[in-house]
Amino acid sequence: MNLAEIDFSPFSRQWLGHRSILSLAKLRRQARTWNKRMYKDKVTITRQMRGLSTFANLGQRVLLKMIGPLKSQLVVRFPIVSPEIRAFILSRFDPVRDFSIALALQTIKREQLPGDMAELGVFKGKTSSLIHRLCPERRLYLFDTFEGFPAGDLETCSRDRRFDDSSVEYVSSLFNDQRNIVFRKGYFPETAIGLENSRFCFVMLDADLYKPTLAGLEFFYHRMAPGGYIFAHDYTSFESGRGVSRAIDQFLADKPEKVIELPDTWGSVVFRKL
Ligand SMILES: C[S@@+](CC[C@H](N)C(=O)[O-])C[C@H]1O[C@@H](n2cnc3c(N)ncnc32)[C@H](O)[C@@H]1O
Repeated sequence: MNLAEIDFSPFSRQWLGHRSILSLAKLRRQARTWNKRMYKDKVTITRQMRGLSTFANLGQRVLLKMIGPLKSQLVVRFPIVSPEIRAFILSRFDPVRDFSIALALQTIKREQLPGDMAELGVFKGKTSSLIHRLCPERRLYLFDTFEGFPAGDLETCSRDRRFDDSSVEYVSSLFNDQRNIVFRKGYFPETAIGLENSRFCFVMLDADLYKPTLAGLEFFYHRMAPGGYIFAHDYTSFESGRGVSRAIDQFLADKPEKVIELPDTWGSVVFRKL
């Protein structure tokens, strides 16, 4: 309330009358002083609050920095995974992708979808190892040359050696129980020969390039259980001249399914077979 704005004339007549020891002028002066004091206090309080909020912001920033590495641990409530799997996921570089895989596999189990699992493009087997840990009771096919990209599939360069350094021996050492692990070493789709009668509930396409991604869709799509999940890595990324998105968009153009983009590190997509 601004005391200087109060009209003291009626006030003084009503309450103070002529017997008032305070003249109106005195009251007004007093009011102005109070007002000034209140204004001064207000400024001081505002300044103090500003200081406090700066301090609080700073504190919040420091706190966020401190708990930053734990953040994903704090916010990801679902899927509920074992502490070992959570630790494994958080030790890797892409929790959004990994937790999405975990959610999909939980749904597959809950809905009791039939079929095997597959990863096309395994490299050193870290993602395959996660898939197996999440669902050890299902057969998991691992398709890769285990020697890097086949030169004939490269479109934007003549050589890409990033994934040359792998082997079946190395990847198999990641699995304690190998009963449900099936290695298909060599050039895909040739390595799929003999699996024509197989059914799949979960497929991870991570071959980076247009040709094997398209071949993967052509092979797996019609063998998916209804509701089965196909994930594809690198859809949103510019990797390999957008080879993955070209293959997927082309393949799904006349199909009823639409992809859902994931905000993971390399722009995965996922769709469920109808
Ligand atoms: C990006 S890496 C896979 C990474 C792996 N999924 C992971 O999460 O660590 C791509 C892999 O696809 C494999 N690949 C690409 N084209 C292939 C083909 N036609 N046949 C078999 N393997 C292929 C390469 O050998 C390479 O190991």
